[in-house]
Amino acid sequence: MASNLQVLLDHRPTDKVSSACFRFVETPVPTPGPGEVLVWHSFLSLDPYMRGRLNDAKSYAKPQEIGAVMGGGTAGIVEASNNSRFKPGDAVVGMGGWQRYAVSDGAALRTVDAKAAPIQAYLGSLGMPGVTAWYGLNRIIAPKAGETVLVSAATGAVGSVVGQLAKLAGTRTVGIAGGPEKCAYAMNELGYDICVDHKSANFPAELKAALPNGIDGLFENVGGEPFQQALRQLNDFSRVAVCGLIASYEGPPTALPDMRIFLVRRFRIEGFIVSDHPDLWPQAIGELTALAAAKKLIWRETIRAGLESAPQALVELLKGGNFGKMLVRLE
Ligand SMILES: NC(=O)c1ccc[n+]([C@@H]2O[C@H](COP(=O)([O-])OP(=O)(O)OC[C@H]3O[C@@H](n4cnc5c(N)ncnc54)[C@H](OP(=O)(O)O)[C@@H]3O)[C@@H](O)[C@H]2O)c1
Repeated sequence: MASNLQVLLDHRPTDKVSSACFRFVETPVPTPGPGEVLVWHSFLSLDPYMRGRLNDAKSYAKPQEIGAVMGGGTAGIVEASNNSRFKPGDAVVGMGGWQRYAVSDGAALRTVDAKAAPIQAYLGSLGMPGVTAWYGLNRIIAPKAGETVLVSAATGAVGSVVGQLAKLAGTRTVGIAGGPEKCAYAMNELGYDICVDHKSANFPAELKAALPNGIDGLFENVGGEPFQQALRQLNDFSRVAVCGLIASYEGPPTALPDMRIFLVRRFRIEGFIVSDHPDLWPQAIGELTALAAAKKLIWRETIRAGLESAPQALVELLKGGNFGKMLVRLE
């Protein structure tokens, strides 16, 4: 008989997260009650926000509970349904968590077109990370043709979409990524005009050289040293979208420099959380799906095999071990 493999948070990390923070259990496959749907997960999304939820700290979302199934985005197939909105065989995405099966009341479940794109794309460029890119670029940076947009974590799930959208908007698009292979992909496949390797010994000078006209829009995914260097190149009236600070999730906090820079540069800096804008998701996903169909939006995925690999995949994601969207294929 099929069982439901689940990954629970065993204890909170005191420093960097490791696989030992998690434990596995097998439970019976749940039965959907009235109005509920049983979903078999084919893909689990791994996302940097998961690291923040492992801490018992006040944030925009509740911390992950110890002893509970790890939360996370999932794509899968409806196996059984007592909900008129779904039927067996439907491809769906939701927040099913780190487990093979989940029962849902359907509220956070969305049917997707698995013929238009592979189902896992709805966890990446055509899902939450894609909408994040769309929102931060269009609603905060609002780039004009000819401006310069700088994107950190430029080849990742969010950054790769930002770069392509910024290029389509007619900007000079500059990326920051870790290592020559990611930088080559950024320039040769994603269309960045130039990409600077933050691991290079000459990173500050190379970044400055890549920005002869400064920065008009900064899409910040990383924080830390790349952010400190980018701040020095901001133009007057530039816009900074603070999307994420992954360098600080397990590292030192990212500080702002002397406030004088705000006055002198008259720039605007705004943090955002994509889940605050549910009203815009349909428009964003519609536009991203149309671009993908027209081959104007591409992506890359790192897929780990089996739910057993999820804890280590999260550890790797936080160290840049992913190339594009980090996913686990469930077996
Ligand atoms: N605000 C929101 O609503 C929202 C939604 C989704 C994601 N986010 C944020 O957006 C950012 C990107 O998320 P994602 O899902 O697209 O992840 P991702 O970019 O696919 O993967 C994370 C990447 O961050 C880079 N990185 C990790 N540690 C770093 C460090 N110390 N210094 C420099 N770069 C480092 C690595 O790329 P390199 O190898 O190229 O360095 C790594 O591949 C994260 O900060 C995330 O928290 C925010």
